[in-house]
Amino acid sequence: MRKIVVTGGAGFAGSHIVDEVCRHFSDAKVVVFDKMTYAGDVRNISHHLFPNRVQLLVGDVADLDMCRRVVKDADLVIHAAAESHVDNSFGNSLEFTRTNVLGTHALMEACRQEKVRKIVHVSTDEVYGQVMEGAASENEVLRPTNPYSSSKAAAEMILQGYLQSYHEPIVIIRANNLYGIRQFPEKIIPRFICHMLTGRKLTLHGNGTNRRHYLSAQDFAEAVVFVAEKGEVGEVYNIGTTEEYTNLQVAELISKAFDKPSREVITYIPDRPFNDGRYSVSWDKLMHMGWKPKNNLSDDIGMLVDWYRDNFARYPELFGELPASAAVEVEVAGLLPVQEVSNGLAKGLSS
Ligand SMILES: NC(=O)c1ccc[n+]([C@@H]2O[C@H](COP(=O)([O-])OP(=O)(O)OC[C@H]3O[C@@H](n4cnc5c(N)ncnc54)[C@H](O)[C@@H]3O)[C@@H](O)[C@H]2O)c1
Repeated sequence: MRKIVVTGGAGFAGSHIVDEVCRHFSDAKVVVFDKMTYAGDVRNISHHLFPNRVQLLVGDVADLDMCRRVVKDADLVIHAAAESHVDNSFGNSLEFTRTNVLGTHALMEACRQEKVRKIVHVSTDEVYGQVMEGAASENEVLRPTNPYSSSKAAAEMILQGYLQSYHEPIVIIRANNLYGIRQFPEKIIPRFICHMLTGRKLTLHGNGTNRRHYLSAQDFAEAVVFVAEKGEVGEVYNIGTTEEYTNLQVAELISKAFDKPSREVITYIPDRPFNDGRYSVSWDKLMHMGWKPKNNLSDDIGMLVDWYRDNFARYPELFGELPASAAVEVEVAGLLPVQEVSNGLAKGLSS
């Protein structure tokens, strides 16, 4: 591989993909293409930017001309850029369609025009809709239920057109919910950890019985690279784990990590307009090819708590300052100001 592009590489999942791409393809030029929305953070990839290992290009995947410049001469494009938060999609669904559908279309068109050799499209288990029993295989009909998952399913339909009409070298992955460091604390695990750090309650939607599988972002990133190398063009691969928790169990796990009785910290709020009861995928196809998850949330929860405590200063607009009681052990060092990145090229990075 000479050049690899990761869209959305400054976001949560994207930054883990960048870690794995840099580790696995040690000689390749790695380019992150990211709009740097509220969910993108240059600190997620600063450990690669400082030694000039990765180049950051700031721009919009819905901009065809920019996409063409970014993917020119790329051997591999991994498309992880997206609006990703279901709650936001209920209020701002058009932005989800713009980025997730139009953005995917513009990027695929750019890849077609620039003859990119392989494209891995990052999709989600949410495109199957709720799966109350068993597990969805890759052949299952897509039945998305909210503006986010609908936009992800719509993006996949665009890809099917590119596969059939142009024989574009596209592979699609559909992953379970992810957990890991660097996840923006709008999602349940980092939000609850930050709530515990600041003495807030853990607010559960509905009755807390909705279930999700939680896959480690590192395991996910390894699967993405695995599929990039071994995945067959036109195929879809589910990426999953057996680690399944209700939202209530997640809250209990986190309160336990802080040595607090869950009944003292959990509170309930009205549910989303629609909230899928459960997602579940079968990843036998990938397992038979040789990938399987190695990590699990209950072992990793302490590590996550430590990371969010140490990096709490990233999110002042969400949670204010860390209370003195929680801040005792905190040492925040060497954070890179976001202003270092201007439109176009990140300052000081090679072109
Ligand atoms: N996080 C999960 O649990 C999960 C699970 C399965 C699949 N996915 C998929 O993984 C991908 C990444 O999810 P995430 O959780 O890391 O999201 P995220 O919100 O943390 O990051 C998204 C990134 O995309 C960038 N971005 C947004 N709009 C853009 C645009 N128009 N042009 C260029 N960049 C743009 C953001 O700046 C950010 O860096 C998404 O495609 C999502 O559907 C996520």
